[in-house]
Amino acid sequence: MYSDTTVNKPTRPITLSKLQQMKRNGEKFTCLTCYDATFTHAMNNAGVETILVGDSLGMVVQGQDSTLPVSIDDMCYHTAAVKRGNSHAFIMTDMPFMSYSTPTQALDNAAKLMQAGANMVKLEGGSWLSDTIRLLSERGIPVCAHLGLTPQAVHKLGGYKVQGKDKAAADLILKESLELVSAGADILLYECIPSELGKSLTETVPVPVIGIGAGADTDAQVLVMHDMLGINIGRPAKFVKNFLTNGRTIEDAFTAYVTEVKNGTFPAAEHTFDA
Ligand code: KIV
Repeated sequence: MYSDTTVNKPTRPITLSKLQQMKRNGEKFTCLTCYDATFTHAMNNAGVETILVGDSLGMVVQGQDSTLPVSIDDMCYHTAAVKRGNSHAFIMTDMPFMSYSTPTQALDNAAKLMQAGANMVKLEGGSWLSDTIRLLSERGIPVCAHLGLTPQAVHKLGGYKVQGKDKAAADLILKESLELVSAGADILLYECIPSELGKSLTETVPVPVIGIGAGADTDAQVLVMHDMLGINIGRPAKFVKNFLTNGRTIEDAFTAYVTEVKNGTFPAAEHTFDA
């Protein structure tokens, strides 16, 4: 067992209210992507509070070169597997590319994901999602909005690049974030933005903020599981740290991640971006 741990394994199911309370108390929470029952069980044992069934499964499980080919049936299949292995983590599931291009299409597909076992759905985008988020929220579906680098728009963005680097771009992310929160977004997730922007957004928005490559000051961190176990194919992104070192087991690596996020040692400066 990983020895220098301060992790308290949750004894009750993690709810959205609990995550909101953790933000209010300044207590960091953790998130990892996961796609099956066995890894979910290990993450439960390590005290990971939230699990993201990410459409990154297209790349790390299916071997695709982007997340675009992932279907709603793929996401339902993996959400159901995670749900079966889960004891208490809060399960978030990505809505895949083009499964939420209109509000009614989004409602139909979000319903499938919630029935498969998700506790929340995640959508990528800005202001154009306001009507969709309002509809989902009014129908009782919790929503996480993913801003900054949105991998489903990789071809529009011209690659996997840091976003929000100049003032106009940073101001736009803030404006769109506030619009999505007023439409009903319950959690915001920022990918690949400068650390200072991650900090100011986290201080400004009233909902929990999860970051990946968004600096050390967000309310929570997320990493793709394969990346943090050092089994990614190709060169890892700057924000990635391999926790499967020093003879650790996989479960110990999850525990080390939880410990380092909670005590503020991950992410370190070397994992973050400047404006
Ligand atoms: O699909 C995914 O794994 C994600 C994370 C990169 C946040 O959206």
